[in-house]
Amino acid sequence: MKTPDPLAIANALNRRVLGQDDAVREMAVALAKHLAGLRVGNILMIGSSGTGKTTLMRAVEGYLAADPELALRSAVVRIHANVLGDEALRGRPGEAVLGRLLERAREQLGPAAPVEQVLARASCGLVFVDEVDKIRSQVGGQPNVPGIRAQEALLTLIENEAIAYELPAWAGGGVTTVDSSGLLFVCAGAFEGLYDSVFDRVTIGKDRGALRPMTVMESGKVVEKLVFRLRDWLRNEDLFDYGMSPQFLSRFDAVVLLNDLSTDELVSIFLESPDSAYHQTQAYFASRGIHLALSPSAVRRIAAEASRQPRLGARALREVFRRVIRDYEYDPSKAVTGGALLIDLPEVERALGTV
Ligand SMILES: Nc1ncnc2c1ncn2[C@@H]1O[C@H](COP(=O)(O)OP(=O)(O)OP(=O)(O)O)[C@@H](O)[C@H]1O
Ligand SMILES: [Mg+2]
Repeated sequence: MKTPDPLAIANALNRRVLGQDDAVREMAVALAKHLAGLRVGNILMIGSSGTGKTTLMRAVEGYLAADPELALRSAVVRIHANVLGDEALRGRPGEAVLGRLLERAREQLGPAAPVEQVLARASCGLVFVDEVDKIRSQVGGQPNVPGIRAQEALLTLIENEAIAYELPAWAGGGVTTVDSSGLLFVCAGAFEGLYDSVFDRVTIGKDRGALRPMTVMESGKVVEKLVFRLRDWLRNEDLFDYGMSPQFLSRFDAVVLLNDLSTDELVSIFLESPDSAYHQTQAYFASRGIHLALSPSAVRRIAAEASRQPRLGARALREVFRRVIRDYEYDPSKAVTGGALLIDLPEVERALGTV
């Protein structure tokens, strides 16, 4: 079978992840290489909460699972970084990742497959480690022992030619060695506070004055403004200071920053994303024989309200939409005409308490 090219992969991922072209491209190229059986540098994704990191991981899982032939190309697991810290404290670093990879490989190859074959398949899988910022080595100046251990556990797992691993009972038990140099790791985290600490560094801290005000036009006036984008200023030292060890970071070839989502992107996510609250609610009303539709200005108003809560990213859409729709869900009878429930800007304003 031909290996899909990055463009085809990116097209598929873009159906679920909107407004994150850089991250999608990086992921698509890495996945194309990985599926072709080539070595790929590990990826670290950094992006504010609710901007699509977990969604991108799920999109890759979904993309592979949707095609039976592709599904058999790579064992994929997704794991929460905290799990690594817990097991490292119990003296079994890396066990959860390898154990899950082995299970996935066995599901793919069938229970009759020889253990060597299952091990070989598992050792060139794809490992997503989510919430990797939770394993920082210090929090508020205090050492975070589970985090330190978890980073060490990941170090053991990444690019190691001989990891001692205790085989599960179905594989005959006993200790074997696993070569993990064919694994692809994609780690992601929100790294809350990183934005502020880098901003402080270049404005009032060590590199004070590095960020200079720029002259921009705003509402027809010339104004001086500090334009700060994390991607322009982020350095490895900022991540060390955050609590990711230099050895850990050196295992990543690419650090990819996800974008904060604009109001326009929130509109698209609301209207187009397959797991949007809008579609779920439309399905609910459809099950009761009612067609739900929102006017474009109503949608834009919801997205604008959501963008006022940047800490939540696209998650805010769900919360804002719930405030708009909850009374109609309870009793739509007064608002439905001819089997349709149409919500326009005034209804949204009323529900949000802005009129
Ligand atoms: N770029 C995006 N494209 C489409 N949907 C998105 C995007 N970003 C977020 N969403 C939607 O918002 C919700 C939360 O997104 P997701 O779980 O991917 O956030 P995250 O970046 O992993 O955040 P956190 O750091 O808090 O884990 C999901 O339900 C998803 O549908
Ligand atoms: Mg997430």
